[in-house]
Amino acid sequence: MRSKTPLICLLASISIASATHLSDSLLNKVYNVMNEINVESWENGTKSIAIIESKYPDLSVFTSNTPFSVLNGLQSGQISEIIGIAETTMNNRPASNNSASARGGGTLLTDGAAGDPASLGIAILLANASTNNQQVKGVGYGDAATAELDYLLYDVPRTSSGAISHRADQAQLWSDSVYMVPPFLAYYGAYHNNQTLLQDAYQQCSLYRDTLKQSNGLWNHIMLGSGTSDPHDWATGNAWAATGMLRVWATITKSSFASDMSSQMNDLQSWIEEIFDASSGYITSDGLFHNYISDNSSFKDTSGTALMASTGLRLSTLNITDNYVPNSLKLLAAVSSYINSTGYLTQVVNPYDFTKEGTYSPEGQSFVVMAYAAYKEWDSLGRKGSNAGKDDPLGSSSSALKQFALPGISAGLISAVLGIWAMI
Ligand SMILES: *[C@@H]1O[C@H](CO)[C@@H](O)[C@H](O)[C@H]1NC(C)=O
Ligand SMILES: *[C@@H]1O[C@H](CO)[C@@H](O)[C@H](O)[C@H]1NC(C)=O
Ligand SMILES: *[C@@H]1O[C@H](CO)[C@@H](O)[C@H](O)[C@H]1NC(C)=O
Ligand SMILES: *[C@@H]1O[C@H](CO)[C@@H](O)[C@H](O)[C@H]1NC(C)=O
Ligand SMILES: *[C@@H]1O[C@H](CO)[C@@H](O)[C@H](O)[C@H]1NC(C)=O
Ligand SMILES: *[C@@H]1O[C@H](CO)[C@@H](O)[C@H](O)[C@H]1NC(C)=O
Ligand SMILES: *[C@@H]1O[C@H](CO)[C@@H](O)[C@H](O)[C@H]1NC(C)=O
Repeated sequence: MRSKTPLICLLASISIASATHLSDSLLNKVYNVMNEINVESWENGTKSIAIIESKYPDLSVFTSNTPFSVLNGLQSGQISEIIGIAETTMNNRPASNNSASARGGGTLLTDGAAGDPASLGIAILLANASTNNQQVKGVGYGDAATAELDYLLYDVPRTSSGAISHRADQAQLWSDSVYMVPPFLAYYGAYHNNQTLLQDAYQQCSLYRDTLKQSNGLWNHIMLGSGTSDPHDWATGNAWAATGMLRVWATITKSSFASDMSSQMNDLQSWIEEIFDASSGYITSDGLFHNYISDNSSFKDTSGTALMASTGLRLSTLNITDNYVPNSLKLLAAVSSYINSTGYLTQVVNPYDFTKEGTYSPEGQSFVVMAYAAYKEWDSLGRKGSNAGKDDPLGSSSSALKQFALPGISAGLISAVLGIWAMI
């Protein structure tokens, strides 16, 4: 009997440790993996946003500050990780397209997608603001940002309704684009006090929704054009759309035109909530979304789930609504349990073949970083909307009992302890 007390204490401390979110050391591993494995234009762009939200929140549209007032005094040393991404982008920028004044060929990168390179536009704007249009390979950051803007506005094919294509060779709409393009148009517009660009950002969200929204409120992934097609409610695509619209909403609030644009903000809010409302009934009992949200024969995907969790918490930190907090905590707890000890998010959709499960996901790593930035801010603002107010619902999910909160204590140790217990 005498040996039972310390064992009880050990068991109790394990279960207390497990009732928490990702440890900072494991979160750092997630961050480092994110830094190492991103390759494609949209991945680097998404990573830049994850870095801004987690390391340089004053420059994010999601905090209570106004990033555009901070931009003027910005020093490049303050945002070295963003400068690194911007510099890489400028080095990869197509050489024959380096004339900022020429309207043709202003894209930051050529990879077949018209929309994806725009995800790097905010990083380029920040690099410009902090270096005063410093040149890389003979082109200034600011000139490259303006050329990218002009490319989107004047060169990329459009649908008959005016939606800017996600593809460079034809008019085809992908829900992904709502994350890549409108937030850049909006950020550029808010920074340069240009309401037309803010309106364009709103309008693009509206036009994409017109084509992609299904009758149940969820969005299809890819419509129109030829070749690739994916007329299904891809989880990551719904998350891209909801998050992109929330970034536009937040940018408008931070701009000098917020009071003029309340009806646009109301629309964006209802379109975001429409996705959250339509998806909530499809959260699985273990706290994830299927890769195709309403198709329970598709595998469960942690990557799109992570971005939905992040955005649900941002709806709370932005004081829009706390209604999606309980589900978002459940989603984030489940996602966290799929992060392995080397910091990889597992059971993810393959970002290069969106119908299949993959073994790792660069964008998924960024989504987890964003989700924890959102979670930490939500926590610091008083945990609005959580069930009891004081509990940690992230840890109360049964799935959270896996290993994620126990970087130093393996399942093997737990069973060894349980084994000793059984032998007593
Ligand atoms: C994305 O960033 C990585 C380095 O982090 C770089 O190797 C790669 O070339 C970049 N991709 C593009 C399309 O610029
Ligand atoms: C949300 O409301 C809180 C409390 O009123 C306030 O401190 C915070 O700045 C607001 N956040 C935003 C993003 O407006
Ligand atoms: C320049 O941009 C145009 C239009 O975006 C593209 O078609 C062309 O391939 C680019 N040139 C190079 C050398 O990448
Ligand atoms: C680039 O930065 C300078 C200030 O450093 C600013 O005057 C200019 O408007 C910026 N360009 C863009 C496109 O933001
Ligand atoms: C806003 O931006 C658009 C696109 O670059 C430009 O045509 C327009 O002149 C700008 N408006 C103002 C007021 O600067
Ligand atoms: C999948 O969905 C169908 C139709 O909604 C339902 O009948 C079936 O029970 C579900 N299967 C699982 C495993 O949840
Ligand atoms: C974590 O997942 C990554 C990607 O699937 C894999 O390469 C790595 O070996 C895994 N780590 C462990 C400890 O299983």
